[in-house]
Amino acid sequence: MLKVGLVGVGGISGAHIPAWEAMQDTELVALCDIRPERLEPYPGKRHYSDFEEMLQREKLDILDICLPTYLHVDFAVKAMEKGIHVICEKPISLREQDIERAYSTAHRMHVHFMIAQVLRFWPEYEFVKEVYETQKYGRLLSGSMARLGGYPKWSWDGWMMDEKRSGLVPYDLHIHDLDFIVYAFGTPCDVTRNRARTPKQDYISATYSFPDFFIHTEASWYAAPLPFSASFRFQFEDALLLWERGKCLVYQNDGQIFDLSQDGQGDTGSINLPKSDAYANEIRYFTDCVQRGCFPDKVKPEQLQTVVRMLNAF
Ligand SMILES: NC(=O)c1ccc[n+]([C@@H]2O[C@H](COP(=O)([O-])OP(=O)(O)OC[C@H]3O[C@@H](n4cnc5c(N)ncnc54)[C@H](O)[C@@H]3O)[C@@H](O)[C@H]2O)c1
Repeated sequence: MLKVGLVGVGGISGAHIPAWEAMQDTELVALCDIRPERLEPYPGKRHYSDFEEMLQREKLDILDICLPTYLHVDFAVKAMEKGIHVICEKPISLREQDIERAYSTAHRMHVHFMIAQVLRFWPEYEFVKEVYETQKYGRLLSGSMARLGGYPKWSWDGWMMDEKRSGLVPYDLHIHDLDFIVYAFGTPCDVTRNRARTPKQDYISATYSFPDFFIHTEASWYAAPLPFSASFRFQFEDALLLWERGKCLVYQNDGQIFDLSQDGQGDTGSINLPKSDAYANEIRYFTDCVQRGCFPDKVKPEQLQTVVRMLNAF
């Protein structure tokens, strides 16, 4: 049984903790957060407000980092120096040099390290990658990806609204779509970027060009309280793939429509997507890598470098 600790019991830990709890071959034994009230809902775990103390007292196999972005690499390096495998929330860092620092520590200490870029484990996005690679619907012609919502006023100490700590919309939100683009299609050959920003809102639009297609993207923290939504539309020669409001649809040029949604009632035939939670998928994948002793290479450092370099241009 692998022993797991988690640090940063804020918003996203609400997706990680249930995923760990559902696993049969790991045990989430310890939680750490500087706000004691965040630990109260988990009476069955050992609680820490000091990360160093958790590292000293616990014999952890895996650390899950759900801290604010600017703390990711320092905390990851400290844990890896103690021989602990680390899975860490996105983004790795706002600074390119941190990527080398984290990976070289992992290799020197012979531990596993992975940034949890969740779209790489999201069935609807995996489906797009598969359709692109197999050319099931012919060549890709264009794509459109969006992540829109209001300003994130809820974060601890307002860290998300502080550019130095979060990197704002490019690093916090748009990174999901750009990371998927680099993962699925490779490095774009050209980019055009636009940004509309005031102290109270941040909107970006970017078009990533490849030799045969382009992907238009947008991401926002509007001052208006727009409910969050993520969506995509991919135009292939023979079909349009669409994901919107949790529904994934394939509109074939021949008139057939397939609903791939997990709760889809349509005539889905054999192309129904697996019912799965992408956060649980990434945690399962990382744990399998630890157990098998193979480095988690689904998220490659050179891809993270490309993404951070491109985000730096905003
Ligand atoms: N993959 C996704 O879909 C997704 C979604 C949201 C956030 N995230 C990422 O997850 C990370 C955390 O975001 P969040 O929304 O949960 O933030 P949050 O502000 O809700 O939570 C951060 C937590 O860290 C705690 N903390 C701060 N400093 C600490 C320290 N030194 N020691 C221990 N605890 C400390 C805070 O008290 C807080 O509870 C960010 O990097 C963000 O980009 C990913």
